[in-house]
Amino acid sequence: MSAPLVELAGIAKGFGQGEARVQALTDIHLSVSGGEVVGLRGPSGSGKSTLLNVIACILEPDAGVMRLAGETVWEGGWRIKDLRALRRTRIGFIFQFHNLLPFLDATDNVALAMTLAGTPLAEARRRARALLDHLDVGRRAHAMPAKLSGGEAQRVAIARALANRPAIILADEPTAALDSERARVVMALLRQVAREQGVAVLVVTHDEKIFDRFDRMVSLRDGRIEADQRTCAPA
Ligand SMILES: Nc1ncnc2c1ncn2[C@@H]1O[C@H](COP(=O)(O)OP(=O)(O)OP(=O)(O)O)[C@@H](O)[C@H]1O
Ligand SMILES: [Mg+2]
Repeated sequence: MSAPLVELAGIAKGFGQGEARVQALTDIHLSVSGGEVVGLRGPSGSGKSTLLNVIACILEPDAGVMRLAGETVWEGGWRIKDLRALRRTRIGFIFQFHNLLPFLDATDNVALAMTLAGTPLAEARRRARALLDHLDVGRRAHAMPAKLSGGEAQRVAIARALANRPAIILADEPTAALDSERARVVMALLRQVAREQGVAVLVVTHDEKIFDRFDRMVSLRDGRIEADQRTCAPA
């Protein structure tokens, strides 16, 4: 396991003012290394999505220090000028529902992420095909999203998240819409990617059928980390 790619110290985030103020995150200390697959669980409203969005640099924290891939990204304010470029090149996202663009085929859904980051289209398509092959969904390379099964679409979404060789993958309930067999396949792929490419993977989940698939499980309650436990997931 390599150096921490996600490092949060004392991170806090609130929403609203005065009476309506909600303290969504309080004093979060969290570190995720390359190669690690960490689960994030907790009751509804405990701050899981807020935490993911802070790490994704979509929400600005109020306090603390956040370092991503060895760079200080937030400390008293954003420390990076081009947050969009940081998001595109360092972070891959996977959502509950695949969020593929309905008017592009599987290959172009993956290739688009690369062309947005500056890769020429022909090379992007070639690498997209290779990624889809690697995730065992290459035979669906020219299928439109509406024609993909849930498990196939989620594999295409993983390929898209990997498109720019991110250091960090963030997933918000990626298996919630899948049956247990497909959920296990998706988790196995995320573990494979973490191990092979040294990516730090953080997965929000309510899904008990995959709790044993994580290296560590972090439990949130009322915006605080209540437990951070190593699990005995198979290697
Ligand atoms: N944009 C927002 N404006 C105001 N309050 C918000 C906003 N986003 C989240 N909150 C509040 O912050 C708290 C944490 O919300 P969050 O969405 O992070 O919870 P969660 O753990 O992801 O819940 P769920 O399991 O239901 O997805 C909740 O009290 C929520 O109402
Ligand atoms: Mg949520």
